[in-house]
Amino acid sequence: MDYTNLIEQALEAKKRAYTPYSHFSVGAALLTRDGRIYQGCNIENASYGATNCAERTAFFKAVSEGETEFVAIAIVGGMKEQKPVEYAYPCGICRQVMNEFADADFQVIVAKSIREYKTYMLSDLLPYSFGGEDIR
Ligand code: THU
Repeated sequence: MDYTNLIEQALEAKKRAYTPYSHFSVGAALLTRDGRIYQGCNIENASYGATNCAERTAFFKAVSEGETEFVAIAIVGGMKEQKPVEYAYPCGICRQVMNEFADADFQVIVAKSIREYKTYMLSDLLPYSFGGEDIR
């Protein structure tokens, strides 16, 4: 799988992050099974707990537009207006939101650039997960 475009879209989304408090900007690009891409950035708030992460922004945009099938998400993060220097792994809440909508083959790509990235199965990042099947 070629993730170049997905990573590029995540890098572009990072530029739109609203991060006046942490100055840590995250961009995400979520790929649907039929090939559409939804971008997301983190959106901070003066009441810090009201902040929304980039990954959840992308998921909530997509689901609210009627999307239900996802294959991968690319994530980049780093200081505002700078290229990523480290991999930005999704936080626990975002992993849980991914788990709600992702199938077993869902891929999480953490990237520093289009050439430097790592891919994971969501089940590697969130083992022994809690999901809808556990409350039936
Ligand atoms: N952040 C994300 O956007 N995604 C994550 O998975 C981890 C953290 C954001 C939230 C906050 O705006 C900033 O990074 C610093 O925590």
